[in-house]
Amino acid sequence: MREIETKILVTNEGLLAPAQVDEVVSAWEQGFLVAFPTETVYGLGANALSADAVVRIFAAKGRPSDNPLIVHVGDISQAVELAGYFPPAASALAEQFWPGPLTIVLPAAAHIPAVTRGGLATVGIRIPSHPTALQLLRQSRLAIAAPSANTSGRPSPVSAQDVWDDLAGLIEYIVYSGRTGIGVESTVVSVGDEGVRVLRPGGVTVEQLAEVADVTIDPGALGDAPVVGPAASPGMKYRHYAPKAPAVLVEGSNPGAVEEKVMDLALTLAADGQTIGVLACTETCNLLRGHNTENLIMVPTGPRKDMAAIAANIYHCLRELDRSGVDHIVIEGVPPTGMGLAVANRLRKAAGYQLVRADS
Ligand code: TXA
Ligand code: MG
Repeated sequence: MREIETKILVTNEGLLAPAQVDEVVSAWEQGFLVAFPTETVYGLGANALSADAVVRIFAAKGRPSDNPLIVHVGDISQAVELAGYFPPAASALAEQFWPGPLTIVLPAAAHIPAVTRGGLATVGIRIPSHPTALQLLRQSRLAIAAPSANTSGRPSPVSAQDVWDDLAGLIEYIVYSGRTGIGVESTVVSVGDEGVRVLRPGGVTVEQLAEVADVTIDPGALGDAPVVGPAASPGMKYRHYAPKAPAVLVEGSNPGAVEEKVMDLALTLAADGQTIGVLACTETCNLLRGHNTENLIMVPTGPRKDMAAIAANIYHCLRELDRSGVDHIVIEGVPPTGMGLAVANRLRKAAGYQLVRADS
């Protein structure tokens, strides 16, 4: 039931005023829910050490209870307290990538409630780099559990408006700052004897990780097929980021062939009289505009060569497609390297694993 009055706190140049910080800290201490910006996506924060507060996160999002939450802190000493054991390999990653878009899964300290961990013996920890997030975490000294601040199954929120659209009336506060910079979630890794294992690709690329550690990618992190059997990370099992209309994703190693297949599929489906949404790079959308575009709604993601721009726009574009009420969606895939791996993972899940290969 949406009966809570959701209050908005507006930041000024990326920071909250001292009285606003006090208001958020006191809200968290009372077990309330506060959505706040991070450099990746907006998070829905509550006191990670209060089982009652964390249960409310799951309820507001409609999130399956076996999917653990990431715990956010303001400095490494707090992170060390949350981990039952902080191996040297994790310290090296923390040193290099914190504050930033990396979540490290470690054995959990006993005082972290089971509900926060989704019942696992481990906990995912991250120090975000967004100035507002750091301000709140450092001044509160609290450990804040924060999943993405969207309804489960919807695209993650990259603006306060996205959070409002999903959660108004269900949470106490939204901290309003601009669009998030990275636009896809943090990279989730586990650290073990065999090195660093990527469980979810995200804002820190595999190439960046490989500069400081031996890296393997868990097959479930690719998102190219549903995970069968036990998942290394529960989030792999769920079809996230699902637009309302059925979607098909075109992938292939030759960008020209992918572009051609996207145009061909879109025009063929549109000729049948359906309204077709096209989620593709600016170049492909421009080419399509030269055709009969009566039944096409183009949602450009960004210039083909600018993967950072595409990542920053992808969830916004998926929400726009939902609002446009299209019958079917055709999505142009991206090369799965660098930030492209995180984007490809989100697109594959958005398409519900409906992949078409365009190889030539
Ligand atoms: O960028 C982000 O990571 C954002 C911002 C708000 O920090 N948060 C976020 O949280 O994306 P969420 O809950 O939407 O996604 C967390 C992912 C899930 O796929 C979950 O299964 C995985 O991290 N995860 C969390 N704790 C884990 C653990 N102990 N073991 C394995 N996977 C874990
Ligand atoms: Mg999420």
